[in-house]
Amino acid sequence: MKILGIESSCDETAAAVVENGTKIISNVVHSQIDIHKKYGGVVPEVAARSHIEVVNAVVDEAVLDWGEIDAIAVTYAPGLIGSLMVGTLTARTLALLKNKPLYPIHHIRAHIYANFIDQPVLRFPILALVVSGGHTQLVFMKNHQDFRVIGGTRDDAVGECFDKVAKILGLPYPGGPSIAEAAKSGDENAYRLPKSKLDTPYDFSFSGLKTAVLRASQSAIGEDFAFPSTEIAKRLSQKQRQDFAASFQKTAVATLVDGLQKAANDFHPATILLAGGVSANQKLREEVKKRIKNPPIHFPKPALCTDNAAMVAASAFFDIQSGAQPADPKNLEIFPTKHLI
Ligand code: KG4
Ligand code: ZN
Repeated sequence: MKILGIESSCDETAAAVVENGTKIISNVVHSQIDIHKKYGGVVPEVAARSHIEVVNAVVDEAVLDWGEIDAIAVTYAPGLIGSLMVGTLTARTLALLKNKPLYPIHHIRAHIYANFIDQPVLRFPILALVVSGGHTQLVFMKNHQDFRVIGGTRDDAVGECFDKVAKILGLPYPGGPSIAEAAKSGDENAYRLPKSKLDTPYDFSFSGLKTAVLRASQSAIGEDFAFPSTEIAKRLSQKQRQDFAASFQKTAVATLVDGLQKAANDFHPATILLAGGVSANQKLREEVKKRIKNPPIHFPKPALCTDNAAMVAASAFFDIQSGAQPADPKNLEIFPTKHLI
């Protein structure tokens, strides 16, 4: 079964064809990074406009033969309103015109299924740590239909924290890859930053860590807490920037692995997987593998960590296998803030 996936929930316009949820036939991603870079973050209206401009070409590039497409899957939640609208309206129109069944897919679920592409079959129960720009969640999956969110962030998502800290340090958007790069030359023990302590074991908090970087960087340049965050970067030396990047990355990663390890001990999964943009982070991958020896740990291929449509198509395949019914293409709504469960 070949499924066309369409993804446009944030700042990537993507279309992909995936066979049986595991084999990529085509995978096209149009990234808006260059467009948003000058603003230092995603501007929703600009994102939606860019999606409109490129979505047809992206789909055309992904689909060589409409005759071989069995179904269309599209991200309908969560995400930016305008961005979600473009993808879902495109998918709804194509489903009607080409007479294909249409399956709505939740973005977090899609990220998880990036792990099923080009990988050995994963055994349930699965413990998934989803770490992206918008989410930080621990999900326990008994099967393809039985998902339970066992923990999540109380404030910022970890990717959002990477992005905000990068901004303080004057590193380019998106912050995750630029912090990882700067951290390579930094001393991760240069600054002591606190790990959040919560009374619920599988939850996370990252806003305190972001504030700790802000305070430590203000004091590193000899200023107090009233000094504007936007003025710090130009006063930091290259070495300070690298040391802050490394120290922050170490603490953020340790916070994530603490929660994952605790959940793994308590829930006894047969498989652990990571998903979402931050799961591309090498330090996180190394630390998870170092600290958790059992069960097997899976990561998506680096190109499938950040937003793409192959994961949307893969997710739909397993949904259909488990009996999901298609949506009405005339009525499919978007849900910008919908939770996974
Ligand atoms: O999954 P994704 O593409 O979009 C959302 O669903 O949010 O994740 C984007 C996030 C951004 O915050 C970006 O800074 C982060 O993933 N990211 C990384 C890395 N690559 C992307 N964070 C840390 N290390 C990386 N190598
Ligand atoms: Zn995402």
